[in-house]
Amino acid sequence: MVAERPSGLRAHDLELFAAGFEWIAAVSLAAGAAAVGYLAYKKFLSKDKCCKAMVNLHIQKDNPKVVHAFDMEDLGDKAVYCRCWRSKKFPLCDGSHTQHNDETGDNVGPLIIKRKEA
Ligand code: FES
Repeated sequence: MVAERPSGLRAHDLELFAAGFEWIAAVSLAAGAAAVGYLAYKKFLSKDKCCKAMVNLHIQKDNPKVVHAFDMEDLGDKAVYCRCWRSKKFPLCDGSHTQHNDETGDNVGPLIIKRKEA
């Protein structure tokens, strides 16, 4: 004979209820731990480059590194170099930074090298 509680639940029913509750708690804990692990992986370990912003969108994309070198003697009195990577005359500035700044809210501008006036 199975003992019956005043609420009408038998001890076996309570054990089943407790086991179900423990199972739900375990699944919730595992799901939470998996979510935290996934977010930590994405933040610190993932090599996924799809979501990182690129500075260079179209200049010499077939080169592993875009490098320009000039001799100081060849610069003349003034040289204006692009730092926004949007110039059609890269590495020289063509004023494209103005449109880039208007569209993005950025504040980039050129590097200007000029000879000191004597
Ligand atoms: S066009 Fe790039 S800084 Fe002017």
